[in-house]
Amino acid sequence: MRQSTTTQLVSGGITILLLAGLYLLAVFKHEERQEQRENEVKLTSGCQQKLDDYGLKADRVYQSKYRLRRTGAANIHTGYSPEDVRAIQRGCNIVDDLLGQDTDDRLKRWNSDRFVRGTHTSCDQCHQGIGDKQNADGDRLVGSIGLAASWVNSDTYDRVTGLLLPFEMRQMQCFINSSNGYKPNINNDLLRDITAYSRFLAAALNLKIQHRYPEQGVTEVTITDTQRSGDDYIRGGEIYREKCSVCHGRNGHGTVVNDRVIFPAVAGPNAFNLQSRNYFGTSDTILPGFICHNMPLGQEGSLQPQECRDIAYYIGTLPRAAGDKAGPLAALWQQLMMAVIPALISAFENEDMVDG
Ligand code: HEC
Ligand code: HEC
Repeated sequence: MRQSTTTQLVSGGITILLLAGLYLLAVFKHEERQEQRENEVKLTSGCQQKLDDYGLKADRVYQSKYRLRRTGAANIHTGYSPEDVRAIQRGCNIVDDLLGQDTDDRLKRWNSDRFVRGTHTSCDQCHQGIGDKQNADGDRLVGSIGLAASWVNSDTYDRVTGLLLPFEMRQMQCFINSSNGYKPNINNDLLRDITAYSRFLAAALNLKIQHRYPEQGVTEVTITDTQRSGDDYIRGGEIYREKCSVCHGRNGHGTVVNDRVIFPAVAGPNAFNLQSRNYFGTSDTILPGFICHNMPLGQEGSLQPQECRDIAYYIGTLPRAAGDKAGPLAALWQQLMMAVIPALISAFENEDMVDG
């Protein structure tokens, strides 16, 4: 049966209205983002301190206070426009507080809410010190995944994928897997802001392009670093319960107090997913390296290489989100395990208490 002309007109009209609506929405969102780019940036307290300390301001030239303080020598860089300064500030906020815990509009998470899924992850849980971890003397620390060192050396091959990944794609991987979120476009403002911040850090620390610095990436812990007695997750579980669970919880779900994440999740729906290189099954050298150099917080460097491998192996056995590439069956299985295993762990915990 042929459609009547009226029906055709009405459906055509509806389609046009829908498209026009979508167009207007896109224009509106675009303008909203443009306005955000022009607004003054309210900094997290961490960023306020760091950027002040490095002397960031809009000027014709930039001179790093860090370098002046440490070496007595001044180095002059090209300065930053007010727009550059705002980009650097926004980037710092995102790295410091992807959770949005320090903003008035927490749900927006510094406008990155489109790309994060769980309620726990923030870049600086792994890229500590807002991507610039230092000790009390201001020395940058080996294996602390520093963002400045990563920026100056980002035209090297990525060790896990074997690909030559631009700095933005390296961030993207962390959004998708380490933070178990969604993929931002390569030219997304968010990534550009993080790049602007990392690049500013490199100027502040006076790092040289294409040089390799010890704080870049995680310094891996391989089997060769151990006595080769074999990795053991049972042993790892014991050390985890002794040295890590006070902060990260028995089932690895972290510690949340008054709706604030105090200690991040290392397992479960809010932690890095199965495709993250922190997962022992994806890379058996990276998480051990992270643990050996950066944990337990306050006692960094106190664990033996074998212990770090055992703990990382154990953490890898705890259920977590599958990651979007894994497909629906794997995702479903992980969801099921995430529901079952923590309950079992709690049951055993109670039994322990009865026994002890
Ligand atoms: C759960 C831990 C974790 C979280 C959360 C995390 N990262 Fe990462 N990130 C890593 C690890 C591990 C690497 C790989 C280091 C290596 O290969 O040596 C990495 C690598 C990177 C690199 C490339 C480093 C290099 O030198 O190649 C960038 C850039 C980066 N992350 C940015 C981010 C940003 C931005 C966020 C927040 C959206 C984030 N990361 C969140 C753990 C994390
Ligand atoms: C005193 C509390 C504390 C202890 C003990 C501790 N951590 Fe952490 N851990 C933290 C905090 C806080 C962070 C986030 C980074 C930061 O704020 O410096 C973190 C981050 C992490 C991360 C990266 C973030 C993520 O979500 O994956 C891993 C992995 C981790 N810890 C593993 C361990 C392991 C393994 C141990 C035991 C050997 C341990 N931690 C002991 C407090 C602690």
